[in-house]
Amino acid sequence: MNLTQEKLKVQFEQALVAAFGTDFVGIDPILVAASNPKFGDYQANVALSLSKKLGKQPRLIASAIVEKLDVSQICEPPEVAGPGFINLKLKTAYLEAQLNAIQRDPRLGIPTAKTPQREIVDFSSPNIAKDMHVGHLRSTIIGDAIARVLEFQGHDLLRLNHVGDWGTQFGMLIAYLREVYPEALTTANALDIGDLVTFYRQAKQRFDADEAFQETARQEVVRLQAGAPDTLHAWKLLCEQSRQEFQLIYDLLDIKLIERGESFYNPLLAGVVEDLEKSGLLVENQGAKCVFLEGFTNREGEPLPLIVQKSDGGYNYATTDLASLRYRIQQDEAKRIIYVTDAGQANHFAQVFQVARKAGWIPDDVELVHVPFGLVLGEDGKKFKTRSGDTVRLRDLLDEAIARSYTDLKARLQEEEREETEEFINEVAKVVGISAVKYADLSQNRTSNYVFSYDKMLDLKGNTAPYMLYAYARIQGISRKGEINFQDLGNNAVILEHETELALAKYLLQLDEVINTLEQDLLPHRLCEYLYELSKKFNQFYDRDRGVRVLDAEEPQRTSRLVLCDLTARTLKLGLSLLGIQVLERM
Ligand code: ARG
Repeated sequence: MNLTQEKLKVQFEQALVAAFGTDFVGIDPILVAASNPKFGDYQANVALSLSKKLGKQPRLIASAIVEKLDVSQICEPPEVAGPGFINLKLKTAYLEAQLNAIQRDPRLGIPTAKTPQREIVDFSSPNIAKDMHVGHLRSTIIGDAIARVLEFQGHDLLRLNHVGDWGTQFGMLIAYLREVYPEALTTANALDIGDLVTFYRQAKQRFDADEAFQETARQEVVRLQAGAPDTLHAWKLLCEQSRQEFQLIYDLLDIKLIERGESFYNPLLAGVVEDLEKSGLLVENQGAKCVFLEGFTNREGEPLPLIVQKSDGGYNYATTDLASLRYRIQQDEAKRIIYVTDAGQANHFAQVFQVARKAGWIPDDVELVHVPFGLVLGEDGKKFKTRSGDTVRLRDLLDEAIARSYTDLKARLQEEEREETEEFINEVAKVVGISAVKYADLSQNRTSNYVFSYDKMLDLKGNTAPYMLYAYARIQGISRKGEINFQDLGNNAVILEHETELALAKYLLQLDEVINTLEQDLLPHRLCEYLYELSKKFNQFYDRDRGVRVLDAEEPQRTSRLVLCDLTARTLKLGLSLLGIQVLERM
């Protein structure tokens, strides 16, 4: 709901009470966008829903409401239509006043959340000594966009990187490190062991081929758990090296995260199992400790357990998530915890949440949300891979996007016969390349799979980052051409006459609704759709034939239209910034 709808709602409530009595305090006027712009901007459907209760025809109810309704500040006189809709058309003077009011506001009139609270977004979360893959890229991009929106709303947000930095795989890695770089376990300095992914692969080969080595690896796990200094040293070294590689990607993508990996919760795992035991939920099953779940069954239809301690005494991914959940509620005092991972982990989270609820660890005012996303597919519709069939490394993927954007830009500059410095070209290529990758991901409904296509995401036409960035730069071009500083435009200048002006004005005032919805459904593609539609509305307004003249218009229209240009540009800039996308003044 946006500000205008909220104001209307208050008036409707008063009218309903005045017409039918105090039974109707707090009633929802069922205010929705008009089904057809011909009928106005909004319609209230409440009369239809009250017909039974009041034993009256909806049209009569609607008329009785309208008689008491005072919306003259906001709307033209309301009209009853069809079976009993109340149609509302916003007054031009009202729209002008709204735009004048947001012109000086850096937040463009968007209020902060009514009840700001501590919230956590758990995202990105790659695994140490393994490459960040496209799934982590999605989590990083989507999680960051969600975090930015919630921060903008004024929530006290923790961005947590639940890095996979603990577990039995470290036994194998450390044992291998001891063999090939014995000095790594003792030297004080960090050691460059080269490409970690290759190292992981080699360690795994060694592990699979040799039973004695497997035993050594198991002992390293025990030493790690016990905190043996040399083993711990090796573990830190591996983590540090991975961390540096992840950081390169975060820097490139402009992502801020607090690392709180699985190892952080290690000291709390025994307590989780103990407390589950105390609450009577724990069942021993073939030596493993588990909790039986409702609604999860195996193929035979038997209830499935969630294992929290394996028969060898080890803990697992789920135990860690139970510990982190408790920590986030008790220590961080989070009221909403949002997990951004691929849809494949939906069951994992549903199970962890269920066990935590059963154990009574989730207070009523805490919300747990898994935000799932689909797969990234190649243009052949199969899982995204390199030509040789390997998983694509994120660094290569981003470098490729930047390189292609560089080539596109060079070609365009040649076509337009423009001379630009190499510095400019590099900067634009980088921003466009990175934005294209982010926007391509964010503009899809995250729950579906999407096809990764450099050509599509770098296209200057369509719902793409280059299109959006171009729309922004084009508006800045108007200010350069007219030698106008948008900040210096006078106050209270907006006058709306032409239909394209009115359409743009109304649309500009809908951003708050989009952001409010996003806060709830955590679907960033709705913001992309809004921004795309906004640039289309702007293009219609700025169109020589269908729209209006701007720089060569007479006053007072000229200033009014320049304010509309500025507001459009700032809305694009704000919206894109919430998606983690930086704009360019020129491109
Ligand atoms: N490291 C995990 C993976 O790569 C993602 C962790 C997500 N967060 C969590 N609290 N489980 O699949």
